[in-house]
Amino acid sequence: GNGAHAQALVIGTGYGGSVAALRLAQAGVSVEMIEMGMAWDTPGSDGKIFCTLTSPDYRSYWLRTQTKAPLNYFLGFPIDRSIPKYTGILDAEDFAGITVYQGRGIGGGSLVNGGMAVTPKRENFSYILPSVNADEMYNTYYPRANAGLGVGLVDPTWFDNTAWYQFARVGRKQAGRSGFPFVFVPDVYDWNYMQQEDAGTVPKSALGQELLYGNNYGKKSLQKTYIPAALATGKVNISPLHKVTSVSPAPGGGYMVLMDQLDTSGNVVTSKQVTADKVFFAAGSVGTSKLLVRLRDTGQLPNLNAAVGQGWGDNGNIMVGRANQIWDPTGAKQSTVPCGGIDNWTAGGAFAEVAPIPTGIETWASLYLAITKNPHRAQFTWNAATQTVDLNWQQAWKQDGITMAKSIFDRINSTEGTIYRTDLFGVYKIWNDTLTYHPLGGAVLGQATDDYGRLAGYQGLYVIDGALIPGNTTVNPFVTITALAERNIENIIANGG
Ligand code: FDA
Repeated sequence: GNGAHAQALVIGTGYGGSVAALRLAQAGVSVEMIEMGMAWDTPGSDGKIFCTLTSPDYRSYWLRTQTKAPLNYFLGFPIDRSIPKYTGILDAEDFAGITVYQGRGIGGGSLVNGGMAVTPKRENFSYILPSVNADEMYNTYYPRANAGLGVGLVDPTWFDNTAWYQFARVGRKQAGRSGFPFVFVPDVYDWNYMQQEDAGTVPKSALGQELLYGNNYGKKSLQKTYIPAALATGKVNISPLHKVTSVSPAPGGGYMVLMDQLDTSGNVVTSKQVTADKVFFAAGSVGTSKLLVRLRDTGQLPNLNAAVGQGWGDNGNIMVGRANQIWDPTGAKQSTVPCGGIDNWTAGGAFAEVAPIPTGIETWASLYLAITKNPHRAQFTWNAATQTVDLNWQQAWKQDGITMAKSIFDRINSTEGTIYRTDLFGVYKIWNDTLTYHPLGGAVLGQATDDYGRLAGYQGLYVIDGALIPGNTTVNPFVTITALAERNIENIIANGG
């Protein structure tokens, strides 16, 4: 409540925030978690907490009056629809050159994401986090993160036989025919539950077109893993629909944190002030960067250094669809959970997830989310005229990612005698070069912070989320975000500072 004091205050309840809260609480520290999104624990009038991918309703988007689906066209027609303005689960946050998708609610990105839980190849680790000891990460913190998140792999025999993964088997066959390795991708979705969905013995989620706007069953989001573990310590309190607006040194030591309580239309109901000995920024790459840049440049935290706001990247995200031959249908039944990818990182700078198009009808299309080694990095800056934080990413920078993605798909098209789909992202538009699902960086480890996330310039302020990672993880990022958070919080608890 207003005027309260916390030993540790954590801004955001995604991967970094959940790890911090659990480990601090286990060490005996009382923790306040502040989350701008909803709790997502109460069913709507349809009895479900979350809506489906194919019928987005008020619950789908964060304060938008129209949906902004990543796959926004079909057969050249726009499919976005009007929705009431509501504190929905998926934020499509627009900057001048890119739309950044993020989860909103207790659990952060784990609520909306595909659950693909990929540990990067060890040989690529020095590219991802050059200052971090790889032995420690691969011996201790990646295993700890994988265990804490509940990561598992699809049963290969079921995969080979189920109708729900025909699209992925087509992806595997075509990758092989063009000489690319196809790798199974682990996921936090409960694979046994998915097999029960297939058998018809439980309510469907992944096999019921649920993804992007939440999964009612099956997915081990942070709501099923780190967060209940943190709450079970009895030392953690979470306030949903509270948005942190300011952090500044308190006169008597520690920090004063200001926040707005929101209603479900996004209006400010009341403002509150609390104090905390330590504050952990875990608002996600964009949320943490925006807060820190504004607080530095408007004078609340003037000692933050010039690296704050720098080193932001899109994890090289590029989406593309291919049209298959009539004898290569991808199936009317498609699980929403991807489970395989095409690896051409070393030779071509691209790793492509074979993604579903779960429309319920045969499309003869193959969809991919490619993660590429796009080298461009953007910077957040405070714009005093508009009182907003801008990001200088340019859409043209995606061309490098497209070139890398083409190292895979031009060859597959040539082998298969096929072409790109031009009707999925606009009217005659092949590449989705306008978005990222994987924002990373903005308060980079060892630059804006010390080598464990302690912010330079202020004792007791920490960054513990994707903002620490300089723009690319070579694969989907949340396992690396979680593992790095596990490493850093262990050091902070042991050594303070
Ligand atoms: P995260 O974004 O998870 O959490 C930050 C939290 O802080 C949010 O809940 C936010 O509401 C809150 N917040 C922000 N500002 C605040 C403020 N001022 N006050 C209070 N709270 C505030 N990754 C992967 O590895 N595999 C995958 O399959 C996918 N798939 C995928 C699909 C989609 C659609 C998206 C959008 C993302 C993915 N991702 C993914 C990416 C993954 O979800 C992402 O990298 C992590 O959630 C980032 O974790 P963080 O802890 O950095 O922040």
